[in-house]
Amino acid sequence: VGFKATNQRVRASALAARQRTIAVSEFFAKNRHLLGFDSPKRALLTAVKEAVDNSLDACEDAGLLPEVWVELGDLGNGLYRVAVEDNGPGIVDSQIAHIFGKLLYGSRFHALAQSRGQQGLGISAAGMYAQMTTGRPVRIVSRIDGRHPAREVTVSIDTLRNRPEIHSRGTTSWHRKHGTRVEMDLEGQYHHGLHSVALYLKLTAIANPHVTLHLCEPDGTLLSWERTVRKRPPQARRIKPHPHGVELGQLIAMLKATDARHLRAFLRDELSQVGARRADEIIAEAGHGLTARSSPRRIAKHKATFLHAAIAAAKVPAPPADCVVPIGEAGLLEGLRHEVPARFVTAVTRRPAVYRGNPFVVEVGLAYGTVGGAEVALSLDGHPNPLAEQGMPGASEPVRLLRFANRVPLLYQQSHCAMTQAVMDVHWRRYGLDHARGSMPRGPLTLMVHLASVWVPFTSESKEAIASYPEVVRELSLALNEVGRRLAGHVRKEQRVAREEARRTEIERYLPFAADAIGAILDWPTAATDELAGQLRELVGSGAERE
Ligand SMILES: Nc1ncnc2c1ncn2[C@@H]1O[C@H](COP(=O)(O)OP(=O)(O)OP(=O)(O)O)[C@@H](O)[C@H]1O
Ligand SMILES: [Mg+2]
Repeated sequence: VGFKATNQRVRASALAARQRTIAVSEFFAKNRHLLGFDSPKRALLTAVKEAVDNSLDACEDAGLLPEVWVELGDLGNGLYRVAVEDNGPGIVDSQIAHIFGKLLYGSRFHALAQSRGQQGLGISAAGMYAQMTTGRPVRIVSRIDGRHPAREVTVSIDTLRNRPEIHSRGTTSWHRKHGTRVEMDLEGQYHHGLHSVALYLKLTAIANPHVTLHLCEPDGTLLSWERTVRKRPPQARRIKPHPHGVELGQLIAMLKATDARHLRAFLRDELSQVGARRADEIIAEAGHGLTARSSPRRIAKHKATFLHAAIAAAKVPAPPADCVVPIGEAGLLEGLRHEVPARFVTAVTRRPAVYRGNPFVVEVGLAYGTVGGAEVALSLDGHPNPLAEQGMPGASEPVRLLRFANRVPLLYQQSHCAMTQAVMDVHWRRYGLDHARGSMPRGPLTLMVHLASVWVPFTSESKEAIASYPEVVRELSLALNEVGRRLAGHVRKEQRVAREEARRTEIERYLPFAADAIGAILDWPTAATDELAGQLRELVGSGAERE
């Protein structure tokens, strides 16, 4: 017994000596696949995506129409120089090093507002990947207005401490009055097709018609997507958590952190859609000695449970519609018509719903049926167009699903995404498509699914797939079924037209015989019989037109 006990003590103390704090940067340097940097191909796309998403967010925050330049240079040996430049508001000097040299540093994590970025990880992670694969720091040029000179900073991350390591810092001359340019060298692989930078930019243009994007490919080819509207989408309003779906732990944390002195003020100030009257109703419902004047910070945990139940049960209106900005039915139709020639196009934008206190909107666009010359319409200045390579899927091919979250196209992890699952769960046979349960439906169909939210529930830090919250799945299903029903109406109409067309062709075959028979009975000359045949054909034809 004594031996065993000693042995154990030694082991525990040895273990204790090995315990260490792990810096978030060390963690992600080891787990870079979590951030979307697992293969050179994906890493190049992710780096571009993080920088472009930031540029678009920054421009929109500042009320500017975004224009973004992406330049990719081939450095040989599988290394690339990625440069992304924007006409945004720029970054003040004191923030540059932290934004690019520290993981989990950003302006969006704590704000409940719809934006592309939300974690404070994206661009610093890209910089860290660049640094791990080439040993070179990130170079940033940024200018905030014409009165200040542009600042130039080169910075890398001290991964052991998650702190910026500044290599150089100074002013430089720059033609741009305001904006930001980010440059990094990294191990990558450039390619065309399904997961390409070009496709990501193209899909970004579809979901953001107010944006102009330029791409200079490694071989020097220039591609541009000009904005089709000059109006910016309305700015999403920052909001407070919606009462429905706030979890108990979150409520307890909020009670501790609040500046409100009284419970009534807390409910009114910290939750969305709750006024003084509704706050009083909630407090009365919670009971257990809680009053409008209770101090939020002193509410015991067991009482918080009752308060939580009363909040969840309260009759509260849906979240305000202006905190989430969808693309909108007109925008979806325009994007689809522009990019995917089809015989039938429709779109549905659902009303805002809530998961875990976070408002969100689901919308779905649908394009069905091929039209002649689709490939021509889709080509990009003679350059292979990633969308056209696929074309509209054939009758026996899986439908094409284009996924978006807060206007950002999602290119990876399609099979792990709630959007894909929702598409597979719809009874597409009912709507006239070939479909086996548990797989994608088949046919000439392109679906564009968008989730806009103040906090998008991504399955991982790489932000490529949506988690299956029941509320989100329900909304997806409702929107998909709605476009499905409309598709069924169209398919039925097409089938009816096709059936009538077939019948008419059949009748037309007999018309000369009928005219001949009538002519023979009445003993008409051949010319009169021919004329009758012509009149009958016209009659059948005009019947079709009246349809
Ligand atoms: N081009 C830019 N112009 C102005 N500000 C920028 C630019 N790029 C980044 N920022 C600022 O730097 C912050 C950190 O960017 P980062 O990409 O690391 O995180 P994020 O965008 O907040 O979230 P996510 O990790 O989801 O991308 C942003 O929140 C933004 O405030
Ligand atoms: Mg970002």
